[in-house]
Amino acid sequence: MNENSQIDHHMTPIEKLLLENKAWASEVKADDPGYFERLSHLQTPQFLWIGCSDSRVPADKITGTQPGEIFVHRNIANMVVHTDVNLLSVLDYAVNHLKVQHVIVCGHYGCGGVKAAMTKTDYQHVLNMWLRNIKDVYRINAAELDAIEDEERRTDRLTELNVKEQVNHLAETSIIQRAWKKEQRPQLHGWVYGLKDGIIKPVFEMNAKSHIDPIYQYDGL
Ligand code: CO
Repeated sequence: MNENSQIDHHMTPIEKLLLENKAWASEVKADDPGYFERLSHLQTPQFLWIGCSDSRVPADKITGTQPGEIFVHRNIANMVVHTDVNLLSVLDYAVNHLKVQHVIVCGHYGCGGVKAAMTKTDYQHVLNMWLRNIKDVYRINAAELDAIEDEERRTDRLTELNVKEQVNHLAETSIIQRAWKKEQRPQLHGWVYGLKDGIIKPVFEMNAKSHIDPIYQYDGL
């Protein structure tokens, strides 16, 4: 790249990202000279965010938080899958090392993953496998969902029920049960973000006193 003489339409999208990054870094530094030095030494986030990969739902922007405040995991449709080593590693690290006080599962209305799971479309191999987890949530709640005639309302409701189910999945892990037993934290929150108005709606909550189905309870934690 030709230094600063480069103008927009000669730049590739990737070059633009890197240039914007430089601009951001010098702006932050001008504002607070010790910023990067300070953050490079530690992070003490209070929150773990499990959100959708959707580019329109950036955890920090919509909650007005800064780097260092939220530990983030994102995947298609904000799922907590008990065989997902990635999610479980993030959860383990956040709960046992960062000692977060809150775990938030945040879905969003208009979620492409939720919509896709409601169709009979064959998305092939890996995507079918992932969406299958959302289809299971539909089946568990079929009586309520089938009774909703309007398709958008049915999708919205599945989005809420999905978030609730994923919070339950968190409570079903030994990671959360052990932390609840020993330290009465973290609190679990199920939220749904509205793409149309930018507002987060809390739909479900669990804490150390919440009931867990006995089949998922662990002894001797
Ligand atoms: Co989504």
